[in-house]
Amino acid sequence: MSTAQTQASGAAAPDVAHLPDPPGPPGRVSVLRALRFGRNPLQAVERLQRNYGDVVMSRLGPRRLYVLSHPDLVRDVLVTHNRNFIKSFALQRARVLLGEGLLTSEGDFHLRQRRLSQPAFHRDRVAAMAGTMAGYAEDAANRWRAGMEVDATREMNRLTLAIAGMTLLGVDVEGEADEIGRSLTAALGLFDRLHNPLAPLLDRLPVPGTLRMRAARQRLDATIYRAIAERRASAEPRDDLLGMLLAARDEEGDGGGMTDLQLRDELLTLFLAGHETTANALAWTWHLLALHPDAEARLHGELRTALAGRVPTAADYPALPFTRAILAESMRLHPPAWTVGREPLQDFEAGGYRIRAGSIVLTSPWILHHDPRWWGGDADAFRPERWLAPDFEASLPRFAYFPFGGGPRKCIGEGFAWMEGVLALATLARRWRLRHAPGAAVVPKPGITLRATGLRMRVEPV
Ligand code: HEM
Repeated sequence: MSTAQTQASGAAAPDVAHLPDPPGPPGRVSVLRALRFGRNPLQAVERLQRNYGDVVMSRLGPRRLYVLSHPDLVRDVLVTHNRNFIKSFALQRARVLLGEGLLTSEGDFHLRQRRLSQPAFHRDRVAAMAGTMAGYAEDAANRWRAGMEVDATREMNRLTLAIAGMTLLGVDVEGEADEIGRSLTAALGLFDRLHNPLAPLLDRLPVPGTLRMRAARQRLDATIYRAIAERRASAEPRDDLLGMLLAARDEEGDGGGMTDLQLRDELLTLFLAGHETTANALAWTWHLLALHPDAEARLHGELRTALAGRVPTAADYPALPFTRAILAESMRLHPPAWTVGREPLQDFEAGGYRIRAGSIVLTSPWILHHDPRWWGGDADAFRPERWLAPDFEASLPRFAYFPFGGGPRKCIGEGFAWMEGVLALATLARRWRLRHAPGAAVVPKPGITLRATGLRMRVEPV
């Protein structure tokens, strides 16, 4: 076994107290460091890996923070020893908003909900939603005009929100998209306090931020509960996700279905998990295409050949390999879920070091996706064609690329996201290209997802 392999092997062994702590920056509890981390967590995580290697220990306020940056260690956490972990404090905090939805629940309850929800994401179900996906993208293409300036991130959020509204709830939220979008953003304000030690107190006080979050939550609840009530009252079955979740029965368990509260938690979770991630992937894709006209020209060529001017359908998906490669490469360079965090229940060993129970363990698609050990000397370059080489994906170490996480908590919407991303990109790019507006300064904003801010772009006909 090579040193690298030995270093990377990890195990959930209770008897690890004798092992040393991993290397990391000196100093103990530091509120200042926590606040600095909160200001630019992406840079902070990157610096830790660069300075200390694949297993690093730092402190975030009162907690130990570990960053694990080798594919084998990511596999250990997400797959091999997944039972030793629960979601980390960021998602525990998300419970305030999402309750016990798929993203935040744990243990047997999570398993049951996953079992109930899984059929709604079956390949055939996703294919049946393709018409809605491409239809809303075509509406956006019809709205755009040559020379118009758009905020690409906002446009993509509007699009994916409309798709989520229809595919999840069967509701056309296009008209209210801005208001719902604002409510979601305000509700996500929850995460602005992620690194603030006073967060639990602030959440209970009637300070402006808390009042805004509460109002936003009420606004979102109202939309979702209205959709549930209307559907329960209607005799007409519908085959959107709400319809599927309403009809779901736990055949392997108690045979029961979901209560309104469980439905609300799942639907709000899907709304949140499903729309902003895909919107960010698409927004970053427009940014990269504008910087790489050669790749863009090849994309237009593929779209002309495969679609001959038509709006794409699910049946066109296999004929769009370069469109998919562009999205894959975009999510490599700008993974929307840029960290996947966990809390260990017991101490465990990683790379010969002791990782303690109750800490924060971060794995970061951002770090692994930019690592020259797996991606070579052009790790930072946008080269979508790398995905087309025969056996390319099979030749990558597992977890060198994991934009959708892995193991039992892997993204349930992965197939949905690929279909949505490819069809939306194909529908829009067959008619329009985007160019950065003069003076546009694009800044990555690493919150719970990796947003592209300042992405002002000009619309040009293809
Ligand atoms: C490009 C788009 C997307 C990305 C990058 C993404 C990424 C992820 C990641 C990394 C996880 C794992 C989190 C963890 O292990 O802590 C996850 C989980 C999840 N995602 Fe996605 N996602 C995307 C789209 C979607 C869509 C479209 C939906 C639904 C329509 C969705 C619903 C969920 C749900 C419900 C979970 C929790 C699954 C569970 O724990 O059982 N995601 N996603």
